[in-house]
Amino acid sequence: LHVAVLMGGWANERPVSLMSGEGVAKALEAKGHTVTRIDMDRQIAARLADAAPDVVFNALHGVPGEDGSVQGMLDLMGIPYTHAGLAASVIAIDKQLTKQALVPHGIPMPGGRIVKSAEIHQRDPLPRPYVLKPVNEGSSVGVAIVTDESNYGNPISRDVAGPWQDFAELLAEPFIKGRELTAAVLDDGKEARALGVTELKPKQGFYDFDAKYTDGLTEHVCPAEIPDTIAELCRDYALRAHRVLRCRGTSRTDFRWDDEQGEDGLFVLETNTQPGMTPLSLVPEQARHCGISYEDLVEAIVAEAWS
Ligand code: DAL
Ligand code: MG
Repeated sequence: LHVAVLMGGWANERPVSLMSGEGVAKALEAKGHTVTRIDMDRQIAARLADAAPDVVFNALHGVPGEDGSVQGMLDLMGIPYTHAGLAASVIAIDKQLTKQALVPHGIPMPGGRIVKSAEIHQRDPLPRPYVLKPVNEGSSVGVAIVTDESNYGNPISRDVAGPWQDFAELLAEPFIKGRELTAAVLDDGKEARALGVTELKPKQGFYDFDAKYTDGLTEHVCPAEIPDTIAELCRDYALRAHRVLRCRGTSRTDFRWDDEQGEDGLFVLETNTQPGMTPLSLVPEQARHCGISYEDLVEAIVAEAWS
């Protein structure tokens, strides 16, 4: 097949996408496919029309690329593409819309509300500790955990620099203490299955951008050393989220688990419709654990799009 790998772009996650895209491109070449690497810019439609691929591997992360914009364009152009379609992408990129879609299906997610970033300097939007995050970023871009001990001031001082400065609106959610878990789903179009559960143990602080992409800063425990009931719930919620949102190919659902609360302490934070495919990424790691190589994983995702 001739596969165009879309990567880069101008999202905050550009560097992550370039790593995902290069990994995917090399894997496809190793499988004997013809690959065109495309670093997304505003001329993307013209460049795709020139390349005329059989299928697009969408290795973009964040906005634009994971949010429905590129999916809508590819629908119009009639080019098959990997991962979620337009509707799933629009909903899943927005953490608040995701709650509205998933919670009615019995998937527990933290309550939260959208606040104008100016408001956080007048009063705390929630009791501390709480999390402030942009509604549609990935890789922990722009995330702040506000505790009594954080030196942001109370209420958050206008003079203190913080990630909220770049965003007009933020999602405020109660902070769930405890552990960070994630579960990937692989879906060949006929059958979706949860691959496993990984626990992320950052060596310091929380699982932020640096902890995610710097080798050695986070320990990945795969499979997670957690009770079977919790692992089973993670797989069930990941699979349910994948189906309710109507994801394709692969998705990865992220959790927080307050282990003092047992099953009641497990919460879904979000579902990623285009999860990272870098060498440190979690979907490839869980696939490997199930005996699926990186190359076979990439091939399976492309096959689903092509079928
Ligand atoms: N947003 C990053 C790429 C992930 O979910 O893996
Ligand atoms: Mg994400």
